[in-house]
Amino acid sequence: MKAIILKEAGDVKNLEFTEWHMPLIQADEVLIRAKAISINPVDIKTRMGKSLYDELKSRNNAIILGWDVSGVVTEAGAAVTAFKKGDEVFGMINFPGHGKAYAEYVAAPASHLALKPSNISHEAAATLAALTAWQSLCTHAKVSRGQKILIHAAAGGVGHYAVQIAKYIGAYVIGTSSAYNKELVLSLGADEHIDYKTQRLEETVSEVDFVLDSIGEATIDSSVAVTKKGGTVIFLPSGINDEKLKKLNSQGVKCYRILVESNGDDMKKIAALLERGIIKSHVSAVFPFANMADAHLQIETGKTKGKIVVSF
Ligand SMILES: NC(=O)c1ccc[n+]([C@@H]2O[C@H](COP(=O)([O-])OP(=O)(O)OC[C@H]3O[C@@H](n4cnc5c(N)ncnc54)[C@H](OP(=O)(O)O)[C@@H]3O)[C@@H](O)[C@H]2O)c1
Repeated sequence: MKAIILKEAGDVKNLEFTEWHMPLIQADEVLIRAKAISINPVDIKTRMGKSLYDELKSRNNAIILGWDVSGVVTEAGAAVTAFKKGDEVFGMINFPGHGKAYAEYVAAPASHLALKPSNISHEAAATLAALTAWQSLCTHAKVSRGQKILIHAAAGGVGHYAVQIAKYIGAYVIGTSSAYNKELVLSLGADEHIDYKTQRLEETVSEVDFVLDSIGEATIDSSVAVTKKGGTVIFLPSGINDEKLKKLNSQGVKCYRILVESNGDDMKKIAALLERGIIKSHVSAVFPFANMADAHLQIETGKTKGKIVVSF
C-alpha cells in the first residue's frame, strides 16, 4: 500500500511517499480502507519536530503521521462486534499515540470509531477538531444552557465546531476571528463576533463563564481577564507552562490545558450531531493524497477556515 513516512523532522520535503507493508490488526481492531483524512495543526507541529515527535521517534524509525480518518472497514478483528466488513466508519485513531493515518489502509481500535452517518461524506466526517471541541465544552468545562462563552479562532478547525456545539447546548456564544471570517463565524450561530485584529478583548467583553483558548501566548492574559470569578479557561496549545497556569489560577479563574483523547463514545455523539445537521463541517479544501505537502502548507498559514482534508 501507499503511505507517507517521516524519517526526520523538517519541512514538507521530509514527507516521503513510499510503498509500505499492510498493517496487521489486533483482535480489537479493524482495518480501514481510508477514503479521507483530515489534516490538523498537530500533524504539522509533529512533522516539524515538536508536539508528539520525540515520543513517536523514540519508538519508531519512521513515523506515519495522521490521526483523523474516515473510510470503509475491510476486515474486523475476532473480538470486534460493533463493526463489520463494508461498514463506513470514522474516528480519531490512537491519539496521542501513533495514528498512522497517512496511508491507504489504517489499523484502528474499534473503541475509537463510530459509524459514519450515510448523509455525511467521508471528507466532511469530522474527527480530531470536533472531538476536541466536544471534550472541551462537554467533558471538561461542562458548559450549560445560558452561559456566556468565548471561543477564540472561531473560524478554525476546532473553533467552528465549538461554536456549533455551544449553540446546540444553548450557550450565548462570542467568537473571535479576523474581519475576513466574520460572516462565517456568525453563520455558524455565534451571537457576537470580535475582530481580534481591531478590537481589544478586555474592552469588548466581560464576565464570561468559559473561554476556549486555542491561541495561547497572545491571548492568555486577556482570556483570563474577561472571565468571571469562578469561571473556566481551557487552553489548547501546549506552550503554556505549569508555573504560568498556577499564577493564573490564583486569580480566581480555573485555568487548565487539555489534550484530546481518542474516544468512540464521544465519536458516536458527534456522528449523531452531524447526521441531524446540528453541526456541519466547513471543509475549505480537499487535496489529493499525492499533494499532502500542500495540505500541510495550508495549515501552516494559520488562516485555515474549518477543516482541510486529503482524499484518496
Ligand atoms: N490540546 C489539544 O488536544 C488540541 C486539539 C486540537 C487542536 N489543538 C491546538 O489548538 C490550536 C487550534 O487548532 P485548530 O485546528 O483550530 O487550528 P486552525 O484551524 O489552523 O486555526 C486557524 C484559525 O485560527 C484563526 N486565528 C489565528 N490567529 C488568531 C487570533 N489571534 N485570534 C483569533 N483567531 C485566530 C484564523 O482566523 P483568521 O484567518 O480570521 O485570523 C483561522 O481561522 C492549534 O495550536 C492546535 O495545535 C490542541
